[in-house]
Amino acid sequence: VIAHLLEENYDGDLVQAVQRCVHQLHGSYALLTCAEGDGRLIAVRSSSPLVIGVGDKEAFAASDLTPLLEYTERVIYLEDGDIAALSPETIEIFNDAGPVERNIELIDWTLEDVKKGGFKHYMQKEIFEQPQAFSTTIRALRPEDIPESLLHPEFVTIVACGTSFHAGMILKYLLETFCSIPSRVELGSEFKYYTPPVQGVVIGITQSGETADTLAALKAARACNCTTIAVTNVLGSSVTRIADHTLYLRAGPEISVAATKSFIAQLAVILQIVNTIRQGTCLDLLLHGNRAIEEVLLMDLTSSVLLCRNAQHIFFVGRGPFYPVALEGALKMKEISYIHAEGYAAGELKHGPFALLSGETPVIALCMPGETYQVMLSNIKEMKARGAPVVGIGLRGDTEIPDIVDVFIPVPETHLFVQILTTTVVLQLLAYLTADALGCDIDKPRNLAKSVTVE
Ligand code: AGP
Repeated sequence: VIAHLLEENYDGDLVQAVQRCVHQLHGSYALLTCAEGDGRLIAVRSSSPLVIGVGDKEAFAASDLTPLLEYTERVIYLEDGDIAALSPETIEIFNDAGPVERNIELIDWTLEDVKKGGFKHYMQKEIFEQPQAFSTTIRALRPEDIPESLLHPEFVTIVACGTSFHAGMILKYLLETFCSIPSRVELGSEFKYYTPPVQGVVIGITQSGETADTLAALKAARACNCTTIAVTNVLGSSVTRIADHTLYLRAGPEISVAATKSFIAQLAVILQIVNTIRQGTCLDLLLHGNRAIEEVLLMDLTSSVLLCRNAQHIFFVGRGPFYPVALEGALKMKEISYIHAEGYAAGELKHGPFALLSGETPVIALCMPGETYQVMLSNIKEMKARGAPVVGIGLRGDTEIPDIVDVFIPVPETHLFVQILTTTVVLQLLAYLTADALGCDIDKPRNLAKSVTVE
């Protein structure tokens, strides 16, 4: 359809043809066009990512920064409605009002960042980059970078999708529990359509900065005069142009479709927000979070992988902040190993899913110290009584969990905030190793895309 519209609108001037054509289009798109006899490539976008690479007597267009790294570190982010005419010598940008200037920005990612560097998969590499990603993100985000509006908000709404939604659930838990700030977290895809009453601060968490549902939710929040804050990994991505403030993750490029190091970097931002609201009570502890992650990366998970690799269904359960960690573990497992995996708040299993428990249905139970510890032990015993093999994750030195589970995975003894990181990394590794044992196409799971730019 677009090709025909272009043809109808073309009278020798390709830029004008594209301009007329896009006025007839609805929805989101990023287009590149060329015409015989015109040495230029014409790029235009609306709500879909498109970035221009500025080379030495060459120009590039891509939907993402990573393919450009091989050619240039200088980029131009197009605004919605911009039309760029690219030739080896010039880059001209127009909008409906005429020629416009757009800044050239420098990418701080390198080509090395997007190579596998000796790892079997990008996902494995990215899991092992997490100590660095966490450390860099937490050190780069200074307390003074946290917007004032987030220090004493009356109410916080968080919008996100997928893995980023799980990060949002953890933020909600920490804001309410440690800062007494009422909060809620909404799926971007739901928020836009049922338009709940919204006020105060709205935080959009999106690794790519291009997830259509999260962008739409933030636009809806802006329309209600809320202060909007983006948490993203990608400099200049669409979300940065919608939100009033942006907090950047310093995770570096994430190539694998399964989000790992961007999630840990999101947790770094979240923990720094909470720490700042609490006036820096645990900064030292957070600065050393990377060491606990490093310890987890050395673990041998062979016995747990053996339990999981032959399963058709796996449950992941936890309570409090470990409930979203369980959801994230299940999401990782299902998306890369294709084993059906469900995350549940541990107390919910007996409200239905118990019917599915059997000797062939492993349960991965996060059983961390705190007020839910005893009730988690009871939950594990109930699961064992239904015949389910249980992998228990708890603190190193725990003497009760090993007695009641089939496999015990001990994580380093640290503060709750760091336990959220370490337990997450255990589940990422478990998913990765299980999928690898099954020979799955880990970095490109079937039917999935890294950025979901359509609703
Ligand atoms: C998880 O491994 C997926 N990549 C997916 O759930 C992802 O988190 C979701 O699509 C949201 O992406 P975003 O963070 O880029 O908005």
